[in-house]
Amino acid sequence: LHSTEIKEFDTIVVGSGLAGLTAAYHASKNGSVAIITKSHLDTSNSYYAQGGIAAVTAPEDSFESHIQDTLTAGRELCDLDAVEILVREGQSCVQELIQLGMQFDKENDGFVLGLEGGHSHRRILHAGGDATGKGLTLFMLNRVKEQNNISAFEYTTVVELLVENQTCSGVQAFDFVSGNNIIFRSKSTIIATGGLSRIYDRSTNPHTATGDGIALAYHAGAKLADIEFIQFHPSALYIPGEDAFLISEAVRGEGAWLLNKEGERFMQHSHPLAELAPRDVVAFEIYNQLQIHHSDFVYLSLKHLDPETIKKRFSTIYHTLLKYNIDLTSDLLPISPAAHYMVGGIQTDLNGETNVKGLFACGEVASTGVMGANRLASNSLLECLVFGKRAAEKANAEREIAFSMPEINIIHVDNANETFFLETKNQIATLMSKKAGIVRSAQKLNEAIKELQEIKNHLPEKITEYNLLKIKHITDICSLICESALIRKESRGGHIREDYQSEDPNFCAHLIQQIDHQFKF
Ligand code: SIN
Repeated sequence: LHSTEIKEFDTIVVGSGLAGLTAAYHASKNGSVAIITKSHLDTSNSYYAQGGIAAVTAPEDSFESHIQDTLTAGRELCDLDAVEILVREGQSCVQELIQLGMQFDKENDGFVLGLEGGHSHRRILHAGGDATGKGLTLFMLNRVKEQNNISAFEYTTVVELLVENQTCSGVQAFDFVSGNNIIFRSKSTIIATGGLSRIYDRSTNPHTATGDGIALAYHAGAKLADIEFIQFHPSALYIPGEDAFLISEAVRGEGAWLLNKEGERFMQHSHPLAELAPRDVVAFEIYNQLQIHHSDFVYLSLKHLDPETIKKRFSTIYHTLLKYNIDLTSDLLPISPAAHYMVGGIQTDLNGETNVKGLFACGEVASTGVMGANRLASNSLLECLVFGKRAAEKANAEREIAFSMPEINIIHVDNANETFFLETKNQIATLMSKKAGIVRSAQKLNEAIKELQEIKNHLPEKITEYNLLKIKHITDICSLICESALIRKESRGGHIREDYQSEDPNFCAHLIQQIDHQFKF
């Protein structure tokens, strides 16, 4: 028989990527912490990050240059104060990690710095060559495990945020292993559930990245900002039937070329930075090449680069490709764009706080203002460190507030409907890829909204099964993306409209969605 337990913590962190681990680590300096994750502690987008973490460390680099590169990539939509914090505090957060023992790749006592799209200096610190995310998340996980006031709840999913009078006092969760409901009461709740790129057919993300954190926050009354901006990574492996394995942008940073079906370089004609233009530009150019040549992929070529350097620097990619009988150093790699990163998210202030009292968000799920319309490569792990810490510190400072506890509204969930879940999720992923992918139009978006509504119409009004709840979250969030994409009648960063092909200064503003409110620019 399933039961309901009640647990109390000072802070609850939902999600165990770099933002969640960072927030948990800092929150534990002043009170008890629960980390809740629907999978294993080391399953996250952060874990799979290859390129690295952008930070100003080289003498010839400067804060001003990193700030400017971030603003340029963000296409006028970044908030300057947030970017200043990201870049300036980012450097000290990275320093703090190094002091804790994190080892980034070095040569002759200096960091080996990578280059990625949109950066005007080499400033990407990496670890284990191209295994930075793994190195960084495992390092933080070990720091978290050392704190005896942090408890982890794996294979536990949040089904509802407990919000009353615009105040969050915890979450209701479901433990897959025991089948029990758990009420986690807390003084602060930090959402760090990452992104949603798995709502698309081709994605570089783990299967868990379906946007439930953002759906939960929306239903709890939190404001969402700019969720129409989805970043498609230009270079993900294209092999029919296989996952879209990420080929790091750092590979292009070392000189790799993009070639069309005819074997011609095409980026030189579209941007002065050629293959190292910001991601939205490269992904769009690849999209155009695919249309022109009626092809499903373009090529990435490293044939002209030194094979030994490549093997050493990109050993994870090299060995993964060997499984497909592809040699990174000498073969042409078939690649095409894949959904990679949610640029907008739950709107927060500079301390990660949302409009709901006691509810914070950090990392990919949050919209802090640093990404604008398109994220600069390798700024995401930096954002996790800076805003994960800020959110935790603000949460710690607010501990004295006595929140009222809401009445508990139990939703019993079980694991039925697995097949329905998988089929519907795939149907939605295909729909989103076709109608709300790299290039959108009013017609495509309206068709998507209609089909999503039809799926929703078949869901029961009161959902008590987890798989149905996941479908509800996915349809809700996809509808929200399509609706905001429909309203933004311009092309900017990670939102391209074939019916409104240029940037329009009238739309140079954040698009806010909140339940029971009209859209707001
Ligand atoms: C990559 O290595 O290309 C991904 C890094 C990022 O998303 O910033």
